[in-house]
Amino acid sequence: MIDRSHLVVVPDADALAERVARHTLDTAREAIARHGRFDVALAGGSTPKAAYALLAAAPLRDEIDWTRARFFFGDERCVPPDDDESNYKMARLALLEPLGVADDAVFRMHGEDEPRAAAAAYAGVLRATLDRDDAGIPVFDLVMLGMGPDGHTASLFPGTDPLDDDAALVKAPFVAKFGTHRLTLTPATINAAREVAIATAGATKTDALAAVMNGAYEPATYPVQIVRPRDGRLWWLVDEIAAKNVRPA
Ligand code: 6PG
Repeated sequence: MIDRSHLVVVPDADALAERVARHTLDTAREAIARHGRFDVALAGGSTPKAAYALLAAAPLRDEIDWTRARFFFGDERCVPPDDDESNYKMARLALLEPLGVADDAVFRMHGEDEPRAAAAAYAGVLRATLDRDDAGIPVFDLVMLGMGPDGHTASLFPGTDPLDDDAALVKAPFVAKFGTHRLTLTPATINAAREVAIATAGATKTDALAAVMNGAYEPATYPVQIVRPRDGRLWWLVDEIAAKNVRPA
């Protein structure tokens, strides 16, 4: 059973976007106060997109110094950066361009390259750029995640190999249901973060969230369960429909 002490339930998807945006700002402020920077891994998906739009517009955009932020990605589709499927493109349009983020503060996964080479290259970027923990694993201030109706998170899908416990930081699993590779942070990297926020909303998530929260620990079936930051905090930010069948702790 998942710890619910950091489960926040809000009325609907709009309220969730607002909550995610405010949570991101709070985490950014804390990170900037601690080490002068905010290193965040962005998520793809609909909830983050709505949150990015709020962060990129007044009044929220004026709440922190965005020149202190560096933007990374939790996962990417194996497409070029100008493809409509690209998580980078979504973040660029919704967040990075409206905020006027400098190119050298954006570290994208190269979805256009050969997947395994792209994963290895991104691992190198993380090692060269981020703080490291005692085990040498790069540490994000915040990893933003979503959850799919099948319990996937980032691009850790049921039945894909990055759930294997090894030292790789980034992998390129073949996702059979889409017939394509994806690029994704591994559990080792996600769980080294100072904070992880999983945001999910809507009726298509109700069953998965109930299984994830109420059920046994079965990350091969519900990969999002593998998100358990070693020294950091885990927040679940969800709407009422998604949380409908979650039993109280
Ligand atoms: C992606 C995501 C993925 C997403 C979930 C939930 O690239 O699509 O990183 O893991 O977060 O599928 O997506 P929604 O928020 O759109 O339901």
